[in-house]
Amino acid sequence: MSETPRKILVTSALPYANGPIHLGHLLEYIQTDIWVRFHKLRGRDCTYVCADDAHGTAIMLKAEERGLSPEALIEQVKAEHERDFSDFLIEFDNYYTTHSEENRQLAEEIYTRNLDGGFITQKTIKQLYDPERGMFLADRFVCGTCPRCQAPGQYGDNCEACGATYTPAELKAPYSAISGATPVEKETTQLFFDLPRFESMLREWLDSGALQESVANKLREWLDEGLQPWDISREAPYFGFEIPGWPGKYFYVWMDAPVGYMASFRNYCDRAGLDFEEYWRVGSHAELYHFIGKDIVNFHGLFWPAMLEGAGFRQPTALFCHGFVTVNGAKMSKSRGTFIMARTYLEHLQPEYLRYYFAARLGSGVEDLDLNLDDFVQRVNSDLVGKLVNIPSRTANFVRKLGGTLPASLDNEELVRATQQRAERIAELYEEREYARAMREIMALADQANQYINEQEPWKLAKDPDSAERVLAICATAINVFRLLIIYIKPVLPELARNAEAFLQVDPLEWDDHRQLLLDHPLRKFKPLIQRVDEKQVHAMLEASASATTGQQATEAPMKEESEDDGDLINIDDFLKIRLRVARILKAEEVEGADRLLRLTLDAGEGQPRTVFAGIREKYSPGELEGRLTALVANLAPRKMKFGVSEGMVLAAGPGGRDIFLLSPDDGAEPGMEIR
Ligand code: 2FM
Ligand code: ZN
Repeated sequence: MSETPRKILVTSALPYANGPIHLGHLLEYIQTDIWVRFHKLRGRDCTYVCADDAHGTAIMLKAEERGLSPEALIEQVKAEHERDFSDFLIEFDNYYTTHSEENRQLAEEIYTRNLDGGFITQKTIKQLYDPERGMFLADRFVCGTCPRCQAPGQYGDNCEACGATYTPAELKAPYSAISGATPVEKETTQLFFDLPRFESMLREWLDSGALQESVANKLREWLDEGLQPWDISREAPYFGFEIPGWPGKYFYVWMDAPVGYMASFRNYCDRAGLDFEEYWRVGSHAELYHFIGKDIVNFHGLFWPAMLEGAGFRQPTALFCHGFVTVNGAKMSKSRGTFIMARTYLEHLQPEYLRYYFAARLGSGVEDLDLNLDDFVQRVNSDLVGKLVNIPSRTANFVRKLGGTLPASLDNEELVRATQQRAERIAELYEEREYARAMREIMALADQANQYINEQEPWKLAKDPDSAERVLAICATAINVFRLLIIYIKPVLPELARNAEAFLQVDPLEWDDHRQLLLDHPLRKFKPLIQRVDEKQVHAMLEASASATTGQQATEAPMKEESEDDGDLINIDDFLKIRLRVARILKAEEVEGADRLLRLTLDAGEGQPRTVFAGIREKYSPGELEGRLTALVANLAPRKMKFGVSEGMVLAAGPGGRDIFLLSPDDGAEPGMEIR
């Protein structure tokens, strides 16, 4: 049965051009790559494009930190990303950048069409501004003390300690994360995309089946809470595209990022002779799919379809949303060594192990996927080595010894036919992104083949020269099942499949080749197709990850609480920001109404004494502290407490209560000395 030719355009989310690819990213690219390879294997016209997401404040600052121009930084990072992807066998038809002419033109076109449609408004708003650095501060570049629980060092608009949400302007003792200066409020006129005008269109889109039900429900909740106009402009200095007619104002990175999908495709069309309009016009018959993580559904499920609508382009056919990667049951963590970079993995392990493991665990839902490293070793060894590759390793040599050519008939045709008959079911599972179920089907078929080999015991028969024909027919049965399984698993393991094709001496296999058998056909000498994973390699990778200093860089992604940033470790730059100083306790007093606090008056060599509240009253009575030296965090932003303002923090060790010990520098230290 032949189907009407499908034209399919597929994207993965564009990674930020300010940090390396890690395993959290790879889940998505591997998931997408398998899907694309599956469609190509079926002979469909399927195009996979991606790009680096190159704009925004974070990238501008990162470039500055490295002493590079943003252009130089994004070029360097793009080259690293491309190498990582290619080494993980992720095969894009085009990998581009959002900092491109095509993207500038398309972003301007989408903006202008929305402007002409009356969907862009202006509003003058107040925003926090860093007077020292001379720039407006995005939420995540403002720090301060939580207005609810007084936890210091909170970012932007939500408190990690108590979960309160607020505007950055409500933070107590706010300071700029960039310069440390106290931000001031300043008026600025911004451009807004009038999202509320698209409410009914968005409700229809959410009902259209284009999204997984749980994702659609989440977005419906946001619609029910009421849509807000979306600020799509940023003030200079900003690395991005200047907005036509608004000198000094730039498109917000999230405005031109999804346009980057179109731009990468347009760049490819020009080269591959495809018709851009045919894919993007309203009413197009081409299919358009975006694979994304669950943290960016608002951009892809609300803003993007509305902007496309406003600009007269088609809607995506579907969004395919996935969950996050955890390692050994917990969020990836630098200190545990589980924040694993693509490169670190590749230095220790084969890419196809991870491709298989992810496939074996992935369904079509948005649940998180746990990479349990013991399970990883066990599953790769048991399925790929113990089941799949075991089939030729147990049979190929008999064929070789008996002339090297598969005979014209099978010993067990039924087994081979049964394996052929699973093709459609497995194809459906791939199409539905139910890879784990597809892998289970494939491994069950491999089990049957191994069971069959066990029963036939060709190694015993091979001792008897009269059984040569039978042995060959048994091996032909096994090798034919193996060939079918290679076709089925080829989207996941392209390299293993290529080596298997070399062994089988066949042209690159396609899905429809499952209808044929391999008979009367010479084989090449069998070489092991995959090696067992050794636990030691996994441990070496964890150790290397723990000692690596590079990490996921801060991004402009909202929903910070779900980002993979690790709270456990700070880098040396962060550490160097902490000023530790020797201080003498001039006075220690009990605080009325606070059983655990002492009010300390400290001489930190600054002329002016400081007041610090310390939770050490259960252990120390005021008298025994006066005159002692202690270590002070001197540049902690002042923190307003119920009893007064605390201007720093003294260092103590121990679990607290009566078991807390104030850290005291040795004699010879003087108030004001820096602690290094
Ligand atoms: O969250 C992120 O990493 C973004 N760089 C994804 C952008 S996807 C698309 F919209 F460009
Ligand atoms: Zn709080």
